[in-house]
Amino acid sequence: MAVRKITEYPETVLGKAGKPVENFDQSLADLCSDMFDTMYDAEGVGLAAPQIGLSLRLFVMDCDGIKLIAANPAIIHTEGEQSSQEGCLSVGKVPAVVVRPLKAKLRAQNEKGEWFEREAEGYAARAFLHETDHCDGKLFIDHLPKLRREMVIKKFKKEKTWK
Ligand code: NI
Repeated sequence: MAVRKITEYPETVLGKAGKPVENFDQSLADLCSDMFDTMYDAEGVGLAAPQIGLSLRLFVMDCDGIKLIAANPAIIHTEGEQSSQEGCLSVGKVPAVVVRPLKAKLRAQNEKGEWFEREAEGYAARAFLHETDHCDGKLFIDHLPKLRREMVIKKFKKEKTWK
């Protein structure tokens, strides 16, 4: 088990759709364990493979009582609307208000390759959507209007130079 380095905007891997997970073996289980370690170390609630430099359709999360591994995730149903603050470990956790569906249903495979469906609402639904976006090469800032997106990027770059 190990904490991996988190890739940050604008590294190209974050903007690429990941490849499907095909091998459900011990190396995948080890990778997921590293992803949980990395996520907890960074005090995040979700982490997708592109965030540690791997272009794969895979994420882990532990958010609002829902802890899971999702390989080859897809959002198969959404309902309603919510508007609240969101941040990303790859964008220095700079927060911005993002409009998302209130409820989301996720379909994915666990580390053994078994398919499952899981419904969530509120914060956890937001995590399903945010992490599935990562697997599609999309960041939360891509949901923002241009000026707000530029503001988040500017703040992120400024905070980075201070570190
Ligand atoms: Ni993120």
